[in-house]
Amino acid sequence: MTEPTPVAAPRRAALAPAAPTHLSSDMVARARQLIALYPERRSALIPLCHLAQEQDGWLTPEAMVDIAGLVGVTPGEVLGTASFYDMLHTEPMGRYVVAVCTNIACLLGGGAELLEHAEDSLGIGAGGTTRDGTVTLEEAECLADCDRAPCVQVNHRYVGAQTPESFDRLIADLRSGTRDGEVPPHGTLNRVRRTDGLAVDPEVVAEERRAEAEARAAREAAAAPAGGGVA
Ligand code: FES
Repeated sequence: MTEPTPVAAPRRAALAPAAPTHLSSDMVARARQLIALYPERRSALIPLCHLAQEQDGWLTPEAMVDIAGLVGVTPGEVLGTASFYDMLHTEPMGRYVVAVCTNIACLLGGGAELLEHAEDSLGIGAGGTTRDGTVTLEEAECLADCDRAPCVQVNHRYVGAQTPESFDRLIADLRSGTRDGEVPPHGTLNRVRRTDGLAVDPEVVAEERRAEAEARAAREAAAAPAGGGVA
């Protein structure tokens, strides 16, 4: 029996940092500020996904390419990370994501009936988006506001317990823009920008990045088979 030919461990291809083409210059500037907070660029991946969602309301393929270039990973790795988290969306979302909790406290308080009403009045099922792109309806697990059941959130903002009647008024308010001051479009986590509190010495960051690169190179060298693998 012949011995199997040793195969070299796959190495990460050298990634040439491509200039962002989709994210706005303001978003790219904010992205670079965020990246500077971390010893490793890739640690800023999720915050950058939220920035892209703030711009577009969801994570477009073009944004994922930009993010990949900014943090030094592949677009597939951005997608692989984003698809794991509920708050990151890789498909278009409505301007308002309306979440109705049907977990136990809200279930007892009429959450299932409220969701059914929402589906009827919006003309979509949970997970769907209205034709005009205004509202995406979601069925949510406990939203940590159990004493105000049935709990509803819009774009992750609490809007209090709702009845079918108040739910319809809420949707009308969202559509007319009268809640714009309270609820920004989907993707905006906050409208207050940090101006201090996380100052990082650039030399410390550079030194930590150098050390990490050396450690990674040493790990890859140790993992590579003797003789360099396949001839
Ligand atoms: S069960 Fe609905 S907020 Fe907790």
